[in-house]
Amino acid sequence: MTGPSSPLLICDNLVKIYQVAGLEVVALQGLDLSVTRGEILGIVGASGSGKSSLLNILGGLDRPSAGQVVVDGQDLLKLSDAALDRYRRRQVGFVWQQPARNLLPYLSVEQNLDLPMAVAGLASGERRQRARGLLERVGLWEHRAHRVAQLSGGQQQRTAIAVALANRPQLLLADEPTGEVDSATAQGLFDLFRELNRTAALTIVVVSHDPQITRQVDRVVAIRDGKTSSELVRDAPAQAVHSSQEAPPSPVAPGGALRGFLRRQVHSSQEAPPSPVAPDYHEYVVLDSAGRLQVPQEYLAQFGIGDRATLEVTREGIMIRPAAGRPVATKPLLPELAEEEPPAQPRGRLNRWWKALTGRRST
Ligand SMILES: Nc1ncnc2c1ncn2[C@@H]1O[C@H](COP(=O)(O)OP(=O)(O)OP(=O)(O)O)[C@@H](O)[C@H]1O
Ligand SMILES: [Mg+2]
Repeated sequence: MTGPSSPLLICDNLVKIYQVAGLEVVALQGLDLSVTRGEILGIVGASGSGKSSLLNILGGLDRPSAGQVVVDGQDLLKLSDAALDRYRRRQVGFVWQQPARNLLPYLSVEQNLDLPMAVAGLASGERRQRARGLLERVGLWEHRAHRVAQLSGGQQQRTAIAVALANRPQLLLADEPTGEVDSATAQGLFDLFRELNRTAALTIVVVSHDPQITRQVDRVVAIRDGKTSSELVRDAPAQAVHSSQEAPPSPVAPGGALRGFLRRQVHSSQEAPPSPVAPDYHEYVVLDSAGRLQVPQEYLAQFGIGDRATLEVTREGIMIRPAAGRPVATKPLLPELAEEEPPAQPRGRLNRWWKALTGRRST
């Protein structure tokens, strides 16, 4: 499959275990993910949930312990060291949070950009031409002679993005690229990602602690304890949804071409208001190929569900109850469960979603 809507990237049951002083640290425990060509995807999750471990594997910087990771038809687990090296240099671009890790501070912007192309063996004329195109694209052509140390944090990250794109990768991976810049600069970087995604048909995966990300990308996947747990998907444009009355939109979100990998809407039903989270988003829990889903801890605590539960099929869907007795609802987690409470504003719900996933308050 190589069409425009086929997955560029598939992770199937991905496991990453680090050995530290004789102990095993499980960073990824059976993670499933599928990213469509041309998609721009956000990844969020609490600190230590495995986001960087995942990105390092996708970038060919590290190898998984088990499972499958296929990028553009290549199973990264099976590549030789030399082939993985080639993959890393030619097919992916990487941007880290710390500008110092992306760039050589004592070289100029243009020299930083020249380096990966020289290593790739490009002739000097082509290198100059490509550098100009990239620097114009990220708005730094005027700054080409400046040393990196003379640039602002945002300009350094723009340079890093240009460097990451120097070898024309099809996949750009960014690990908290806005972590060290202010919110206005972060917005500018997200704008650049979106523009590159649109105009250069670049597939982009961005890890972020920045709540802004939910408004910047089409889909945000949350990782909890080394597994994809839920995702927020921006609705299709209104006209696309209304034009197919008899064929409702597929429950499988963009990028959901992995066999047996389903995303289900969690909070809304036919009669419910259009969106539980924000006017143009739906939240889904992710089911893996074995039908497993992660129920957020706070939901389990809310209903007193321990290590056993019963499932009941109702007209509305599937009801999960504690194994013994009825649900022990105390204070409703979601306003729609409390008739006396006024409906929450979408912004409030988005904040709660964010806090539940990252343990942080949205700003
Ligand atoms: N090189 C390593 N050696 C040993 N353990 C590691 C290594 N890298 C990550 N880990 C561990 O794996 C788990 C996942 O870490 P990871 O860096 O992927 O999380 P993260 O979601 O990126 O966190 P953060 O938001 O803080 O960057 C953590 O328990 C971490 O301590
Ligand atoms: Mg990290």
